[in-house]
Amino acid sequence: MQFIIREEIPADYKKISLINDLAFKQTDESKLITKLRNSNSFIPKLSLIAEIDNEIVGHILFTKIQIISNEIYDSLALAPMAVLPEFQNRRIGSALVRAGLKKAKDLKFKSVIVLGHKNYYPQFGFQKASNWQIKCPFEVPDEAFMAIELIKNSLDNISGIVQYPKAFY
Ligand SMILES: CC(C)(COP(=O)(O)OP(=O)(O)OC[C@H]1O[C@@H](n2cnc3c(N)ncnc32)[C@H](O)[C@@H]1OP(=O)(O)O)[C@@H](O)C(=O)NCCC(=O)NCCS
Repeated sequence: MQFIIREEIPADYKKISLINDLAFKQTDESKLITKLRNSNSFIPKLSLIAEIDNEIVGHILFTKIQIISNEIYDSLALAPMAVLPEFQNRRIGSALVRAGLKKAKDLKFKSVIVLGHKNYYPQFGFQKASNWQIKCPFEVPDEAFMAIELIKNSLDNISGIVQYPKAFY
């Protein structure tokens, strides 16, 4: 199946909301995306869509977060990600993750954090964030809270609590 991945443009906003509503079967994620778009954490180049024949079928968003300890480290959160139900399991989601990670690296980000399924994200190189003593600010299963270094060893000596943008709460 041929699809392209590109940055979102304002004309895509409605369709991106719809895809999230259909994939998650609720509107929480589309509302989160709208709030994040209007926040300082938003990076337009890291809101990506997958498109087949000019129809958007998937979306992924990475936003700025910080890891707080004695010092403050900039990182990214991957959330949310959605593929239209009838297009799932065709590797569109995987392609969005890989494209997003590559673009994030090109933009000089050094790491990404995700709260997600422990069986899905390790294929991209995500590992338990607790391996680096990086903690989630709320209670989550240890194996669901993951991190990836975009630059080797960039999380060495970085531990602390992730601070998500207000929109997440
Ligand atoms: C998660 C999602 C974006 C993946 O997109 P996709 O295009 O279907 O993913 P891919 O085709 O690249 O990968 C499919 C694989 O992921 C697995 N998978 C899909 N959703 C999963 C989930 N929530 N947890 C664990 N594994 C999942 C599938 O079983 C399949 O496994 P396989 O490769 O062993 O057959 C899509 O299923 C979706 O929109 N789900 C609903 C929304 C959601 O849960 N988003 C993620 C949380 S932010």
